Amino acid sequence: MKLGLYGQQLTLMEELKAATFLPHARLQALPFFQALMACQLPLESYVGHLRSLSIVHGILEQALESSSDDRVASVWKDDMRKLPLLQYDLGFFEPRIVADVKDAVDAAIKIAERIRLRSIQEPVTLLGYLYVLEGSTLGAAVLRPQFARAFLLTGTDGLSYLGSYGTEIHVRWKQYQQRMNAIQLSLEEREQIVQAAGGFFTQTQAIFQALYPVKPDSMTYHVTSINPEAGRHPVPADTREVKASLHAADLCWQRFPYIEARYGERGRRFTRSDSAWLATFHQFDPVGISLQVRWLSRILSSRGMPTLLLQEQLEILFAELACAIPEKRPDYEKLLAAAAELRESRRMRISDEQLEALATDFDRAVGPEWSERMANTGALIAAAVADEKGGIADAVVNIKAWMMDASRFPSEWIQAVQTTLDRAQQIGELQ
Ligand code: HEM
Repeated sequence: MKLGLYGQQLTLMEELKAATFLPHARLQALPFFQALMACQLPLESYVGHLRSLSIVHGILEQALESSSDDRVASVWKDDMRKLPLLQYDLGFFEPRIVADVKDAVDAAIKIAERIRLRSIQEPVTLLGYLYVLEGSTLGAAVLRPQFARAFLLTGTDGLSYLGSYGTEIHVRWKQYQQRMNAIQLSLEEREQIVQAAGGFFTQTQAIFQALYPVKPDSMTYHVTSINPEAGRHPVPADTREVKASLHAADLCWQRFPYIEARYGERGRRFTRSDSAWLATFHQFDPVGISLQVRWLSRILSSRGMPTLLLQEQLEILFAELACAIPEKRPDYEKLLAAAAELRESRRMRISDEQLEALATDFDRAVGPEWSERMANTGALIAAAVADEKGGIADAVVNIKAWMMDASRFPSEWIQAVQTTLDRAQQIGELQ
């Protein structure tokens, strides 16, 4: 046990503070915090910090919660969780499509692995990690106004993690100190906790060093940043292509209000992650693209999104990509060719003129209010019939059930849907 300046015994919290004084000072001096003070920190660095911390908090909070060590249980309280706050903040930044800083993610994963191991081998040392993160709430409260100023954030938007405990912060810190100082430890255990805290400070330094300045080759886009549910499919590495594909998705989303009305915010996220995926297709040969696009069109149509949507999304995407990087236009033209293939297969059942006429009649039948609110829906209904005639089994059943729900639409609308379906069926049979 360490003694204080006058030979008195230090409490556990005093010992932790003394032992980590230097690493704390080293952290504060990192370029990350200097850039923050100068309002020069990029958003990637801030969001990257939230993402890395959510990896660490996720594993640590789970380990503390399920620890069988009584001392750990006596210090940890469920209301100390920070993961929900981090997730709330990350949700706020989600629409901005912020690139991942790969080296920071890797450093956080390394820490998470270490925590997992400790939770099995020496669970009481998790209290060293908890000390660093609880203590960092004190620093966060000081830094919060600076982050708010640097990124023009107000209220809790993107700032709730930094504002953990709000005005109770000092009371909570005192209570936490008391719980820590009350536990019984052997000298060896105490030493291990102090070492764990020191080691964690050093590992945290690696995260902040990776976050600023960011090495250019460490910036990457992971599809989960666009849509956490999208799994593992690729997205472009070039920021211009990511931006263009997301803009294309938003244009498509606006052109067909049906997607929002039916699938809500989740539909928007999938439109965006699919668009980013489509933007990677130009690297394949035309046969490969055609196969992928046809496969995707069948999946989407059988889930209520007729092929017309994908066709138009590809056309809009081409225009956006070609505008963003004109020299790659010949590559992007492959997307246009894939769209033309989808268009051709629909034309075999319903021509452009017939589709147009069905769409116009539908709008007239539902009236100006509904045709504006749900623009381009008549064309989608007719296109679903063409898909079904082309062999996509559930294309009509799926969209029809939703479109004819009387709790959602007035009777004129339902009548217009039925008429459009009947006429499209007749046209399809004649082709
Ligand atoms: C420029 C960045 C930072 C500033 C300005 C800062 C500032 C502060 C301040 C003002 C305190 C309260 C000191 C006291 O009341 O005695 C504190 C405590 C603490 N900070 Fe920081 N901090 C920063 C970064 C960090 C980081 C990144 C971590 C850890 C990941 C951290 C961990 C701690 C810990 C563990 C304590 C508790 C010390 C104790 O035992 O009293 N700090 N910090």
